[in-house]
Amino acid sequence: MDILITGGRLVDPAASLDALRDLRLRAGRVAEIGEHLTPATGEAIVDARGAVVAPGFIDMHVHLRAPGFPEKETIATGTEAAVRGGFTTIACMPNTKPALDDPRVLLTLVSDAQRWARCRIVPIGAITRGRAGAQPCDYAALSAAGAVAFSDDGDTVADEGVLREAAHLAAAVSAPFIAHCEPEDAIVARDLRVASETKKAWHIAHVSTALSLDLLRAARERGTHVTCEVTPHHLTFTKALFDARGAEAKVHPPLREPADVEALRRGVRDGTVDALASDHAPHTPAEKTGDPAVAAPGFSGLEVAVGAYAAALPDLPAMRFVELLTTNPARILGLEAGSLAVGARADVTIFGDRQWTVDPAAFASKGKCTPFAGRVLPRKVLATIVGGALVYRAQDFTP
Ligand code: DOR
Repeated sequence: MDILITGGRLVDPAASLDALRDLRLRAGRVAEIGEHLTPATGEAIVDARGAVVAPGFIDMHVHLRAPGFPEKETIATGTEAAVRGGFTTIACMPNTKPALDDPRVLLTLVSDAQRWARCRIVPIGAITRGRAGAQPCDYAALSAAGAVAFSDDGDTVADEGVLREAAHLAAAVSAPFIAHCEPEDAIVARDLRVASETKKAWHIAHVSTALSLDLLRAARERGTHVTCEVTPHHLTFTKALFDARGAEAKVHPPLREPADVEALRRGVRDGTVDALASDHAPHTPAEKTGDPAVAAPGFSGLEVAVGAYAAALPDLPAMRFVELLTTNPARILGLEAGSLAVGARADVTIFGDRQWTVDPAAFASKGKCTPFAGRVLPRKVLATIVGGALVYRAQDFTP
């Protein structure tokens, strides 16, 4: 179906455009941008007055749980959660069963996605075989099978020698290494050293401490190619929540001190932070209760992310907000996405500053645990368009 989106505020950082414009989508691509475009016959009209129209959002850190953990999430439920959250592309982490360490596993995931997914899925391959931290994977083969980055997420590659060897082997492949750094400050420092020595593009996942950001700034000043992301929960909550709630507030890296939350917010505003990423980590209710020492870490993030970012950063200009959610993740992962230029893929997110209350029981995701439950968030996804198809429209977004 061809769509004409009318009257919206088009925000496209890739084109430095922030203006009232109509947007015509035809045959899965952006066909025309202009003021007061005339509807063509057969075209569906989406009235976006009062809303922001942006390139489709990309969540570069999602645990889709496929293959191997259908009790936590499936491709169908995870991608439905994604489109409700405004995401047209999600990058999925390799801590699956089996791990995404073999091209055949990636190819199966990509073909399953073609059948079940509501949005685009791009896989992140493992750094080491079985994510066991010992043997580097075949990065060229994983890249040919669709890997857009490499990570042993959840498990830091503990042996610096293995990590250095892996980074040298992957140097010819443009896809970056994504590092889950724990203990955070020490491993961020180590990874920045390896990144600088090997010249491998490096991305630090879910930065959560003030010191990590300082280390990152210093490394950049010395010319190291490093990017980073922050999560909605680390931008909002402190260790006090974990002390009060235990298992349900458990996450890796853990919730930190108020000064860290402030530093992360500052880092987003001053440009140190490149991307916002949800670290969507669905688990079963049983895994999120009981003894915090054995409970599973992580939260269901896709459906709250956009509202939660806006709540944490109410003063962030729309252009910067959109850049952190689409233009920058697209650049970091080398995706054909993150722009609404004529000819670009018709991936579009429409959102508005409307309040809503988080009700996890209504989530499409099988993961219902979120520290944002019951919170009133100030921004809402109104419609999500993937490849020119309207895959989600909020009930109160009337055409
Ligand atoms: O809290 C987390 N949960 N952090 C991670 O890095 C892994 C994730 C998961 O897979 O559950």
